[in-house]
Amino acid sequence: MNWIRIAAADDLQDDEVRAVTVGSARIALYRSEGEFFATDNRCTHAEAQMSDGYLEDGCIECPLHQARFDIRTGAALCAPATEPLRTHAVRRDGNDVYIADPAA
Ligand code: FES
Repeated sequence: MNWIRIAAADDLQDDEVRAVTVGSARIALYRSEGEFFATDNRCTHAEAQMSDGYLEDGCIECPLHQARFDIRTGAALCAPATEPLRTHAVRRDGNDVYIADPAA
């Protein structure tokens, strides 16, 4: 698996989400209880960025119509979204956070 460094771990606080571009992929990077997760940044319902949403208790709330998604699985937890977010593998090595190449 090809890993790409995308952030320093201490750049994000818990319950913070950030937009990251990896090649042509737009990714939302989340920190929750000291762990890192990543999904596609575009909401599966319409044109909204999950990185503009509200992160709490491992769920991201879309800023446009308030659908909620599990950041670990990408599952849509409530309407109006029904399709899951694509998730991406993330690993931490010291203060460096890596994502599995989304193009692979
Ligand atoms: S755009 Fe995200 S819930 Fe509608």
